[in-house]
Amino acid sequence: MSNYSPQDVRDDWVPKGDYLDRAFHDLEKEFLWPKVWQIACREDEITSAGDYVVYDIVDDSIIVSRGSDGSIHASHNVCPHRGTRLADGRGNANQFVCPFHGWRFGRDGKNVKVIDRQDWGECLAKEDTDLVTVQVGTWGGFVWINMDPGCQPLDAFLEPMKSKCELFEFDKLHPVWHKTLVIDANWKTTLTAFTEFYHVQTTHAQMLTYTQDYSISRAMGRHGWMSYAASSGMPLGRSSRLPPKDIPDFREYLFEYADQFKNDLAAMQTDRAYQATQRLREETTAETPPEEVLNKWGQFIYEAAVESGAGWPAELTPEYMAESGFDWHTFPNTVFLHAAVEAVLWYRLRPCDDDHTKTLMDVWSLERFAPGAEPKVEHEFYEDWHDADLPLIYRQDMENIPLVQRGMKSSAFKANRTNPVQERAVSHFHRILRRFMENSHADDALEPETLVEIPKGS
Ligand code: FES
Ligand SMILES: [Fe+2]
Repeated sequence: MSNYSPQDVRDDWVPKGDYLDRAFHDLEKEFLWPKVWQIACREDEITSAGDYVVYDIVDDSIIVSRGSDGSIHASHNVCPHRGTRLADGRGNANQFVCPFHGWRFGRDGKNVKVIDRQDWGECLAKEDTDLVTVQVGTWGGFVWINMDPGCQPLDAFLEPMKSKCELFEFDKLHPVWHKTLVIDANWKTTLTAFTEFYHVQTTHAQMLTYTQDYSISRAMGRHGWMSYAASSGMPLGRSSRLPPKDIPDFREYLFEYADQFKNDLAAMQTDRAYQATQRLREETTAETPPEEVLNKWGQFIYEAAVESGAGWPAELTPEYMAESGFDWHTFPNTVFLHAAVEAVLWYRLRPCDDDHTKTLMDVWSLERFAPGAEPKVEHEFYEDWHDADLPLIYRQDMENIPLVQRGMKSSAFKANRTNPVQERAVSHFHRILRRFMENSHADDALEPETLVEIPKGS
């Protein structure tokens, strides 16, 4: 680890080797992925007994399956006889049958059949014929796995994020769409394009008409927190980077904003919220002050959610939401944007097989539905993200990422000069990642939450 000491990362300095070196990827293979909690799938992908999903991470593969008693079990996806991979993708099975010599395993990974068992006599212990069990936990509607039997409990690992997001009731959300994309970049190059808002002013310049984009970023234990400086909720308003402009009818401005979100992101806004803008036409006027129009919109969204049967998180308060921020990076590879409460955008990033130059990126648009009204969603996979019919904002991000990966190889470039205020979650992540791999577990990697103050005059 001496080449990759945590001390070599500063708030404004992240050496490029973390993104480029095969040696760094090999360290992750040994000291990160087999030891860290990570999302394997959503709980709603395995609702019935026998449902399973296979989660691949570098050279490891995990089967996550639902038992007849409703419990969730996770095992390594490898036959203990000669090493055959047992399952792929997703499906429903009572047993997993090895296609090579026919050994059989129950949903709990226990061996139920060894063909010609007597040939081994005493030299094959029962437990050596079972699949190797993996730690499993659930939080936020996702199934999390950890291959390390000595790992920290999931709840403790997720802190302080868990306490600061729990009341949003992510477990009540369901996907509206779920796409997996292959991106030509290291998984961290892709990840860190989604853990800061500093890029919004250039990459998503069209958003400035409706977005007060100046952001702040905090280290939160091993995780990262991001929000907009001007707002505790949606950062609605004209960016101060643009020349000031009068808004004669704030309702019209809001309709355009809602339209832009719907068309350019297709997430973080339910149809209910979009339709609720229309109620403003009837119940407010062009003269209603902007603050009041916004409050009414919030009230109408809430009423529509309750009326639809989807409901609303009962204990959520404005103070809790403000503290919870706009966006979290959960170490090491999960990002979510939750400020809209009933519509959350969720990302998971990981290496594509054993290739440190490619990312597998999952994007879930999650929403709150009345029980029974959840849509049936087909998982979509794209070798080439250009085929994925992505709305504008994602396309703008995706175009940058391979340029970053390619550009960082230049001999003139040594390290990322990360913004200490708006990209603090990026540099913090690299420091924690290096520390985690150095310590193997990093239970001691938690540090007090740190707020980077906004410089005066910004
Ligand atoms: S490798 Fe699985 S039964 Fe032989
Ligand atoms: Fe972006």
